[in-house]
Amino acid sequence: MAFEMVAVVGLGTMGAGIAEVFARAGLRVIGVEADADALATGRGHVERSTQRAVDRGRLSGGERDAILGRITLTTSREDLREADLVVEAIPEVLDYKRSLFADLDRICKPETVLATNTSSLPVTAIAAATGRQGRVIGMHFFNPAPVMGLVEVVSTVLTDPALVPEISELARRLGKTPVAVGDRAGFVVNRLLLPYLNQAAVLLEQGLARRDDIDAAMRLGVGLPMGPFALLDLIGLDTAYEVMGVLFDETRDRRHAPAPLLRELVSARLLGRKSGRGFHGDEPRPREPDRSTVITFEMAGEGADELTERLRTAGFKPSADPDVILRPADRPVIEHAVRLQDPARLVGVRVVGNRVAELAATVLTSQAAARAARDLMTVIGLTPVACRDRAGFVTDALLYPYLNDAVRMYDTGYASIGDIDAAMRLGCGYPAGPFETLESIGLAVVRDGLRALYAEYREPAYAPAPLLDQLVTAGVHVFPRA
Ligand code: CAA
Repeated sequence: MAFEMVAVVGLGTMGAGIAEVFARAGLRVIGVEADADALATGRGHVERSTQRAVDRGRLSGGERDAILGRITLTTSREDLREADLVVEAIPEVLDYKRSLFADLDRICKPETVLATNTSSLPVTAIAAATGRQGRVIGMHFFNPAPVMGLVEVVSTVLTDPALVPEISELARRLGKTPVAVGDRAGFVVNRLLLPYLNQAAVLLEQGLARRDDIDAAMRLGVGLPMGPFALLDLIGLDTAYEVMGVLFDETRDRRHAPAPLLRELVSARLLGRKSGRGFHGDEPRPREPDRSTVITFEMAGEGADELTERLRTAGFKPSADPDVILRPADRPVIEHAVRLQDPARLVGVRVVGNRVAELAATVLTSQAAARAARDLMTVIGLTPVACRDRAGFVTDALLYPYLNDAVRMYDTGYASIGDIDAAMRLGCGYPAGPFETLESIGLAVVRDGLRALYAEYREPAYAPAPLLDQLVTAGVHVFPRA
């Protein structure tokens, strides 16, 4: 089918972005909103986004005008009669979506494809509200839609199989990569991404580390484009909360229960970027940290040479009476601390990537030692991430369960390794997909890290996925790709 005239219903952040994507690809777009105010807001989104591209020299003024000229706006659904495709991007409430689809089914010509951009609701339940279930499909874009390169094409058991390649082809025409998946809560990306974001909120609430430290650890240490709290603010805390609720309802996995902190922020209407404030948005002015001028240190344990060298180069000398004893570690260090004469001086240190130093303070660590450790890391050009002395510190505690979830997802047969890797790279801008990450860290290292997390938190889902365990036992270092 030639898709020339498309409609987008709902012009919030996602809908407006999707309308822009279609118009940029040369299609004519009808944007629909409930009332004139909402239409004006939607138009504002598209105008700002295209103007930004003009300002950056990515688009000429003429091209921007042509894009805007291809978008017409209306408050009447009846105007959608002739559309070849309608993409729905209204709020994530199943009843609203079902009633919209019943309406569209009545209004649109019989061959019109009805697509939903739902993040997590069952496409099957939406399709069932229409008399054209074979022509209902999920087209799931990622925020910001004009930038992210993925579209999840979600088919149900009722979808006409010929429609999947047609919509995938359309996604390619939009400059996106399609990944075809079945109708399970969260599809590929949200099923892997949102539990990680939720876990970050849980760990924040438990006081494992501070907001900015967790964001820095994942961005600068792991190399993700944004830290979890900055990303939650981008997605919208209300959306994240809803997606988590749907995931929990389907899986009953307590890790999928929305973090109470999310509920609290959503109730306070602190929804993230769209409301001006979420996890971020109310920063006090950054305070220059008071820095100790002369710091002495001692290095304990194995793997200390490189850090010692860097500290020496920066002018610091190991001392027999140090302000802080740094112990390289990727496991809790309290048992080492209690063997010391002065356990208050011990801080665990782990360099993540080449920009971050996680600094684990035990229950006995003094504030002075913790501060000395932080200052030393800053001086040698590492971003200090202060955290409590828990298995996995910050990065492994967030990264490894996500990798484990990806292995489990593949093992259920829901998606291929190639599709899962591509989905996370293109949908979330990750530098590598989970299987690529697993292989570069080492399957055995991740398996052992998961065992340590399991032993610490006793969380069933942290037990290494059987497939991962078996590959390690078999001495295999890469995943079997078809
Ligand atoms: N609208 C349009 N364009 C935008 C944009 C927006 N809101 N934000 C950024 N851009 C464009 C910029 O114009 C720029 O384009 P050019 O290179 O052509 O100039 C490009 O994106 C990069 O932007 P910046 O340099 O300003 O910023 P950055 O390098 O920090 O990248 C980012 C910003 C693309 C958002 C990047 O941080 C990123 O990839 N973050 C991860 C986002 C993510 O994970 N999204 C998925 C969320 S999950 C989801 O959406 C699904 C769901 O159902 C919940």
